[in-house]
Amino acid sequence: MRISVIGCGYLGAVHAACMAENGHDVVGLDVDRERIEALAAGVAPFHEAGLPEMLYRNVESGRLRFTTDPTLIADADLHFIAVGTPQLSGKLAADMSYVDAALETVIAHAERRTENPAAIVGKSTVPVGTAQRLMERIDAAGRELLLAWNPEFLREGHAVQDTLYPDRIVYGLPDDIATGTQARRLLDECYAPQLAAGTPVVVANYPTAELVKVAANSFLATKISFINSMAELCDATGGDVTRLAEAIGYDDRIGAKFLQAGIGFGGGCLPKDIRAFMARAAELGVDEALTFLQEVDAINLRRRYHAVELAQEAVGGSLKDKRVAVLGITFKPDTDDLRDSPALDIADQILGRGAHVVVVDPAAANELRRRRPDLDVADTVAEAATGADVVMVLTPWKEFVSLDPAELRPLVKSPSIIDGRNVLDPHRWHDAGWQYHGMGRGVSIW
Ligand code: UGA
Repeated sequence: MRISVIGCGYLGAVHAACMAENGHDVVGLDVDRERIEALAAGVAPFHEAGLPEMLYRNVESGRLRFTTDPTLIADADLHFIAVGTPQLSGKLAADMSYVDAALETVIAHAERRTENPAAIVGKSTVPVGTAQRLMERIDAAGRELLLAWNPEFLREGHAVQDTLYPDRIVYGLPDDIATGTQARRLLDECYAPQLAAGTPVVVANYPTAELVKVAANSFLATKISFINSMAELCDATGGDVTRLAEAIGYDDRIGAKFLQAGIGFGGGCLPKDIRAFMARAAELGVDEALTFLQEVDAINLRRRYHAVELAQEAVGGSLKDKRVAVLGITFKPDTDDLRDSPALDIADQILGRGAHVVVVDPAAANELRRRRPDLDVADTVAEAATGADVVMVLTPWKEFVSLDPAELRPLVKSPSIIDGRNVLDPHRWHDAGWQYHGMGRGVSIW
């Protein structure tokens, strides 16, 4: 098939590369010339395992092209919209201007066909009702283009795997049976390798498909905030939230995943998606249905404040002029993404209390140096920890989880460790002479 992917950020670049891997002829379109030049040279503009090899291979074979020229999308059978929908500044709602602009690009440049119309396929996370609105715009423009909504569930750090081997595929189709069937056939052909592998396909109408995506992210956010609220209870009572999570996780109605208590969720998706979902519910007059998400957001932000307070206590009551080593600054490991990173927010709050913050991160150091000259960025854990009054593990990169407390001990000024992700062994750190502070992990011999 001939495929265009509009928007070559995280979602679009990975999708374009994976669709070429599926055997299609793909053109990725973006307005960011620098990004397009990198991708066209087979270079991934962000840290994602497996992506550089796949990009290079498919660009070399000629199956995958990247461009800023919208006329090159003309002959595509499927036009994927994969642009961002970031939170609007000062509001809860999502910024839909990139989606609207992408639609106009397709309307302006997709070739006119007398039969076998091409389909526009939305992948971006959007407020429910968007597909209907876009369909009305397509009709008003007098274009014979199909429209389907096909949300994406990839996780950063596992993006290639999640796209090639998804655990489900969702098709949001128009209510009209004829055009819906045509769109479905195109999607089936596009995802033929995934369907052959037995991936379940859920077929639904537009609003369901749009809601599936925000419902999934809201559920994940709720699960994390639930366990973080249990961490607050554990802190108040001497309980250990990691044991609590393990025990409830064995019940497969609950499940053990996404029960890692700590400094909470961040990134470019979960926080903005729950906020945009609340904003949309308010527009629809059903805000009460999602009031609980306000609490999910509040619990999450409270974790960051709690980590700052822990650091302050650990250094004796005032952070002024104290040296704080922050290990990990991305919003989670295996990515260089700093969007709404809890670690960066905590580092900023600590900086705001007058401390000297030294950050070390395996993937984001250069970007951080460029963007944040006010933060001291070290190359190694040893450099960051030397002379530290407190060390904080805020992103659980493998190299931080496996640190040797005995080796680190002689470097620091005061052996105090804050385990912002509950990934260290408290006994091991304690035995090596450290004051260990977890997140909802009361001291226990068990
Ligand atoms: C999330 C969803 O997991 C994907 O399914 C979805 O496709 C994606 O958003 C999106 O909407 O595009 P991602 O943002 O890559 O993916 O990150 P997650 O792996 O979900 O982690 C989100 C945050 O929650 C991270 O800061 C992570 O550290 C935190 N987290 C995760 C916890 O604090 N505890 C946990 O138990 C799990």
